[in-house]
Amino acid sequence: MSRILTGIQSTNVPHLGNILGAILPAIELSKKQNNESLFFIADLHALTSVKDADFVKQSTFSVAATWLAFNFDTEKNIFYRQSRVPQVTELTWYLNCFTPFPMLANAHSYKDKSNKLSDVNAGLFTYPVLMAADILLYDAQQVPVGKDQAQHLEITADIAKTFNYKMGKDIFVIPEPLINEETKNVPGIDGQKMSKSYNNFVNIFLPEKELKKIVHSIITDSTPLEEPKNPDNCNVFNIYKLVASIKETESMRNNYLKGGFGFGHAKTALYELLLTEYKEPRVKYNYLMQNSTILEKELAVGEAKANLIANEKLKQVREIIGYS
Ligand code: TRP
Repeated sequence: MSRILTGIQSTNVPHLGNILGAILPAIELSKKQNNESLFFIADLHALTSVKDADFVKQSTFSVAATWLAFNFDTEKNIFYRQSRVPQVTELTWYLNCFTPFPMLANAHSYKDKSNKLSDVNAGLFTYPVLMAADILLYDAQQVPVGKDQAQHLEITADIAKTFNYKMGKDIFVIPEPLINEETKNVPGIDGQKMSKSYNNFVNIFLPEKELKKIVHSIITDSTPLEEPKNPDNCNVFNIYKLVASIKETESMRNNYLKGGFGFGHAKTALYELLLTEYKEPRVKYNYLMQNSTILEKELAVGEAKANLIANEKLKQVREIIGYS
């Protein structure tokens, strides 16, 4: 059996990049018979950047509803809010004391954020340690993440090895990162990586009119309609191919190459593809967002299971440190 774990911050509604890059591959993995998955909403991590209770709550529901809209099996697996298993913060403290300061100071995500943000808090600095605690608390073996999280996984492995070595016992499992190569770079509407922080994302759950507007705002060049176009340079095509079947992608490629096919046509095709491809998830998501008691219930079940595992692990950790 493999234990898979991943988290998504509750800092907005998950966008197409999160869905293609993280949620769908993780759900695929969770379906394998011998896998057990822990998928959680990283609402403690969200606090490093968001101080708005209503927004965090709403985003928490959004993230939960997205997992369920794509049919994550919450009975077989464990689905929870990070903040509802506060044992993770205790473990974070222990791990902090095994984490070399320079390793955090050199983390590029910290450097990037601290250059950009006005609120450079200590939580932002120790963010990777909380992430390590998320993973190590549950003995996760495999952690599917985006490429931007690869260094955090290296830090996690480092901390785990240091702890095991210093305490003379293999308390923590060294996790393996699973980086989804194919969709690691989902372009946003401006061609940069799709990201909340660039505000260039596609929210597939929007009402039709708004979704259409977003898709039509994807930036393209000014090649005239009649002329042949290079699909590989086009943001619309580069998003399209990540959602479409091989056959649809090939026929779209031909449309670009043969000419007489404008970017407006391509955008309409992408919009329609999103509507058909995500028809059921869109309905389910919106239903769950209107009925958040269902979400609360699903999460509470997962949180009870997560608490049991967390208590067991913390007991071992306290013992080895000398607090038993
Ligand atoms: N830092 C991750 C992100 O922003 C979210 C996250 C928090 C996470 N804890 C985790 C991912 C543990 C994997 C495992 O994408």
